Amino acid sequence: IKPCNLAGWWKNDLGSKMQVFKVGNDGTFSGEYHTAVSSTQKPIQPSPLTGSQHLDEDGQCTFGFTVNWSFSDSTAVFVGQCFNGNDGKEVLHTSWLLREKVDSEPDDWKATRAGRNTFIRTG
Ligand code: BTN
Repeated sequence: IKPCNLAGWWKNDLGSKMQVFKVGNDGTFSGEYHTAVSSTQKPIQPSPLTGSQHLDEDGQCTFGFTVNWSFSDSTAVFVGQCFNGNDGKEVLHTSWLLREKVDSEPDDWKATRAGRNTFIRTG
């Protein structure tokens, strides 16, 4: 079993892709998120992500990261865990919250979406 290292390219069930750059000795990382979908009408652009992971030797670490969307006012956070299937393929099971900007406090109640995504390694 490989130790946990999120560095590389991943693709999720929506067709979104992310590249995680080199993971630091302290487990922190940055990267770029290419979403396949958007809640806005604006043209989608690659957006920066930053996060951290545990450095477990069993390859099944938990992690979290934030995506600061470069083309919208929204922010997303993801938490997840890496799993090593019997076939040796790595899969990330994540949950996310997407916060959209609303004009006024009375609209706060409708500003957060939640969901789940599964990522597989593509590189
Ligand atoms: C926005 O709509 O304001 C920015 C793009 C949000 C994309 C969301 S984040 C959670 C979900 N998983 C994805 O890969 N894309 C969507």
